[in-house]
Amino acid sequence: MEKLMISGGRPLQGTVQISGAKNSAIALLPAAILAESEVVLDNLPQLSDVAVYTEILEDLGAKVSWAENQIKIDPSQIRSIPMPNGPVKKLRASYYMMGALLGRFGEATIGLPGGCNFEPRPIDQHIKGFEALGATVTNEHGAIHLHAKQLRGARIYLDVSSVGATINIMLAAARAAGSTVIENAAKEPEIIDVATLLNSMGASIKGAGTETIRIEGVKEMHGCRHSIIPDRIQAGTYMIAAAATRGNVLIDNVIPKHLEALTAKLVEMGVKVEELDESIRVIGASSYGHVDVKALVYPGFPTDLQSPMTSLLTQTEGVSVLSDFVYSSRFKHVPELVRMGAKIRVEGRSAVIEGGQLNAAKVKASDLRAGAALVIAGLTVNEGITEVSGVEYIDRGYDHLVTNLRELGADVWRQAE
Ligand code: EPU
Repeated sequence: MEKLMISGGRPLQGTVQISGAKNSAIALLPAAILAESEVVLDNLPQLSDVAVYTEILEDLGAKVSWAENQIKIDPSQIRSIPMPNGPVKKLRASYYMMGALLGRFGEATIGLPGGCNFEPRPIDQHIKGFEALGATVTNEHGAIHLHAKQLRGARIYLDVSSVGATINIMLAAARAAGSTVIENAAKEPEIIDVATLLNSMGASIKGAGTETIRIEGVKEMHGCRHSIIPDRIQAGTYMIAAAATRGNVLIDNVIPKHLEALTAKLVEMGVKVEELDESIRVIGASSYGHVDVKALVYPGFPTDLQSPMTSLLTQTEGVSVLSDFVYSSRFKHVPELVRMGAKIRVEGRSAVIEGGQLNAAKVKASDLRAGAALVIAGLTVNEGITEVSGVEYIDRGYDHLVTNLRELGADVWRQAE
C-alpha cells in the first residue's frame, strides 16, 4: 500500500495532457464483445480499472494486446463463461458485461459489481431494460443470471436517466431483433462515445446524446478502430487544481464543450478561463467569490467533480452551498477535509462550505473523487505535509497523477505506508 505525500503551497504552472475517458473506456472494452473480429481502441487511459477489464476479457477467451495507449481486442473466441466471482467483483462497471454478453450470447452470469461505494448504487433500471428486451433475470447467491432465447426490441422508459442503464441497454439491444427505443436516456458524452463505437462496429443507433435513443437491431457486428474521447472529469480536476493553487495551467486534449458547467462556475467565482479548440487555460486569482453549485445529470455540473469542487470552495470568501442531485450522500470527503481545518457541514444532500485556510493532516481517500478532492486540498496548504492514503482509489481514475502534478511544479510523491 502506498500513500501520497503533498507539500503544498505552490501554484501549478505549465501544460497537462488529458488521457482518454475512464468512463468511456470501461464501457467500450466490453462493447468489443459484440464484434466477431478485432476491435482497436486508441487513446486508452492507463488505469487500474482498465487493467481489471482486460483481465475479465481474457478470462472469457478474448485475445488482448495492450501497448501504451492502444488496445487490440480479438473477441472471436469469446464464450459466455459464468463469472460469479473474481475480477468482476473489483469493478462497478463490470455490470456492462451483462448487456454485452446477453447481447452476443443470450446468456450471462455476473457477480454483483464492486467499485467505489460512496452510497448504495442500484441497478434496477438496467434489469428493467434487460427484462423489457425479453431476458429472464435472476439473482443467484449474489450473481445476476441473465438468459434470453431471442432478445426482441422494446420501448423502455428509464425512471432515472442512468448512464449505466442507458449504455447497458444499448449493448443488449444492438443485436436484438427489431427496434428498441430508450426514453429518458442519459445524455453524457460517454454515451455518444459508446454509440459511435457500436455504429462503427455495424450497429444502427440514432439519438445518442439526446433523451431518446433509437436502436435498430442488426444480426452481426464486426471489428473497427476507434479513438476514445478525452476524460472530462480528469480535465475538470486539473482545472479545479489550477484554480485552487492560483496557478496558470493549459489543460490540453479536451473537448471544452464537455466542461461548460464547470467553466461557468469557475468564471462566476473569479477564475480566468480561456477556451481554445482542444484545450482550456485556467488562470487563478488571489481571491474568489463564493458560489452555489448543483450537481445534476449532463449537461449540468458533473457529480464526479462535486468532491474536487468542495476543496476549491474552501478557498473562497464567504459561504458556498454545493448540492448533489445525482448522489444524495456523496460526501465522504467532507470529514477528511474537516480534519484539514475546513469549515463544512453536510445538510441533507448539500455541503455548506465556509471559506478559510486548510492545514496539513493525515487523511484517507474512501473513493476515487474523494481522493482527488483531498489531493487538491493538500496542494493548497502552505505549511507541512499532507498525507493521503487510499491511493488505490485514485489510481482507478487518474493515470500519471504524480508525474503530471510534478511537471506542473507540485511537490508530490508516493511513499509506502
Ligand atoms: N440509479 C438507479 N437505478 C439504476 C441506476 C442508477 O436508481 O438502475 C440512480 C443512481 O443511484 C444515481 C443515479 O441513478 O442516483 C445516476 O446513476 P448512474 O446510473 O447514472 O451512474 P452509474 O452509471 O452507475 C456513472 C459513472 C459514475 C458517475 C455516474 C453519474 C461509470 C462506470 N460510472 O455511474 O462515475 O458518477 O455515472 O454521472 O461510468 C466516477 O467516475 O467516479 C463515477 C462514480
